[in-house]
Amino acid sequence: MTSDNSVLVIGATGKVGSRVTSSLAASGHPHRAVSRSTDPTFDWEKPATWAGAMDGMRSAFVTYMPDLAAPGAPEVIEHFATIAKAEGLRKIVLLSGRGEHGAELSEDTLAQSGVDHVVVRASWFNQNFDEGMLQPSILSGTLALAAGNTLEPFVDVDDIADVAVAALLDDRHNGKTYEVTGPRLMTFADAAREISSATGRQVNYIPLSVEDFHAALLPEIGKDGADLMANICAEVFDGRNEWVGDGVQQALGREPRDFAEYLRIAMASGAWRQVA
Ligand SMILES: NC(=O)c1ccc[n+]([C@@H]2O[C@H](COP(=O)([O-])OP(=O)(O)OC[C@H]3O[C@@H](n4cnc5c(N)ncnc54)[C@H](OP(=O)(O)O)[C@@H]3O)[C@@H](O)[C@H]2O)c1
Repeated sequence: MTSDNSVLVIGATGKVGSRVTSSLAASGHPHRAVSRSTDPTFDWEKPATWAGAMDGMRSAFVTYMPDLAAPGAPEVIEHFATIAKAEGLRKIVLLSGRGEHGAELSEDTLAQSGVDHVVVRASWFNQNFDEGMLQPSILSGTLALAAGNTLEPFVDVDDIADVAVAALLDDRHNGKTYEVTGPRLMTFADAAREISSATGRQVNYIPLSVEDFHAALLPEIGKDGADLMANICAEVFDGRNEWVGDGVQQALGREPRDFAEYLRIAMASGAWRQVA
């Protein structure tokens, strides 16, 4: 279904995009959910797919893959914004990463595009532990990461989606950049301890050097993926993000969910069933 306020959700099968899609569907808001596996398809690596996905849409929620910190991302976002403008999109809500220099370049590119925009700049997701790349680590009982003892205000993906939907549907958010974080600074050792307590199975955090982390990732995700993840960890876990943002409060007028609430909901929904 399309209408004069239809929303295009890019990355709609992902952790954030699926929640944005569900929320729009629940309120009956016209939208189109796309990724590489949908019809119409949308592929960041195939610009020829973009205009077809945008047809009839008036705004877009953008999950860029693999990451706005990846080489070449600002150029892709610039190209995307140009096509979006030509196709009649009036607003882009961009999911961004907190403390990533490359992501800020993409944010700047979007700001200069002339399309109304909102940046949802998120900290490390809670759901990385049960829906994302860290799920196998939690199941194995060893969480090895190049994050040292850095403090991180883990954010709940449900909060990110709520902010994104508000930004999409209400033009009073236009031009804003929301630093979306959870309410509490925690180390990854704290997170492992709380997950252990919730699941009843021990999860140990092992801080790795960036070099050892890169070497561990190499056989799993290849050089480009390992370079990207190692560079992101070196950047965002150097202390720059050791503060709590107020993006959820600013956008929604309520407090963000705590990690304990995330664990309660994750356990109730059967997360890490193999370890519970
Ligand atoms: N994880 C974090 O802690 C964190 C923190 C801050 C910011 N971020 C940002 O959040 C974004 C990831 O969001 P997420 O975790 O919700 O995603 P996700 O769960 O990893 O899912 C990725 C989504 O993108 C689609 N996708 C993958 N490659 C694509 C491509 N080449 N073209 C089009 N779609 C593609 C996937 O569907 P198909 O496979 O069907 O295409 C899926 O819908 C990234 O931009 C990341 O930088 C993440």
